[in-house]
Amino acid sequence: MGRVAYVNGRFVRHAEAGVHIEDRGYQLADGIYEVWAVFDGRLADAEGHYARLERSLGELRIPMPMSRKALSLVLREAVRRNRVKDGLVYLQVTRGVAPRDHAFPTQPVRPALVITAKSVDLAAAEAKAAKGIGVVTTPETRWARCDIKTIALLPNVLAKQTARENGAGEAWFVDDLGLVTEGASSNAWIVDRDGMLRTRDLNANILRGITRKSLMDLIAREGLEVSERPFTVDEAKQAREAFITGAGSLVTPVVSIDGAKIGEGRPGPVALRLRASYVSDAKDRAA
Ligand code: PDD
Repeated sequence: MGRVAYVNGRFVRHAEAGVHIEDRGYQLADGIYEVWAVFDGRLADAEGHYARLERSLGELRIPMPMSRKALSLVLREAVRRNRVKDGLVYLQVTRGVAPRDHAFPTQPVRPALVITAKSVDLAAAEAKAAKGIGVVTTPETRWARCDIKTIALLPNVLAKQTARENGAGEAWFVDDLGLVTEGASSNAWIVDRDGMLRTRDLNANILRGITRKSLMDLIAREGLEVSERPFTVDEAKQAREAFITGAGSLVTPVVSIDGAKIGEGRPGPVALRLRASYVSDAKDRAA
């Protein structure tokens, strides 16, 4: 038998192994992994890796897919079935399969577990190590590229979950300077105390929202102004109105921030009008 992978309870041919397209690991990077070195068919630093695995899962509030003991049997079985003497065993756990939604699934789901094992040519690795390697330096950008609409959405997932647990519909990220960047799955806007529409500028580490852009064009066509001057959380709390934009939320009024009422604590007239204009305009332009 050739290479095999363990996928959710079964060993299957590696070449044909697959996960569901709505696996949250695939869609949202909502999962963790662990890798053990294998020497002579046995796992190196087994305990250390188990401990970190449990920690990573705990941090994401994903249950252990099986007990440590059962897991160690499956890992060893993966090593054995793939005839790995020296090599690596890889384990990945995701929150499981659920309809796409940033926040955690409301119905309990079984975590998805994948394990693979592969051989490593230890002699070649030794020869390489004997020569040593070079390194290059690179800016620490993990993760400062929110302009890319990547599926690496774990921070957004955790933020949205916090919102839900606090009875809110969205979470706004706040940078080191206390300035609002954007929402977990939307762009953030306010109508400030002077009546000025404001949203974060595109030099910030945010996604360039298409709805944001269309709304800006629409506002310009109406002869109104938008300022891309960043705003603090306090400014937002004291704003006349707040709202979010996105393909999912269109233009949705925000009535409270961290429990503090915005304006009258009801959707504001500007946000409601912009929503109506945006929806009508977007319907007309829909191709
Ligand atoms: N999210 N910012 C973030 C982080 C987003 O995920 C989104 C959209 C936006 C708004 O972009 P646009 O106007 O192009 O939809 C801003 C989509 C809707 C989602 O994840 O479901």
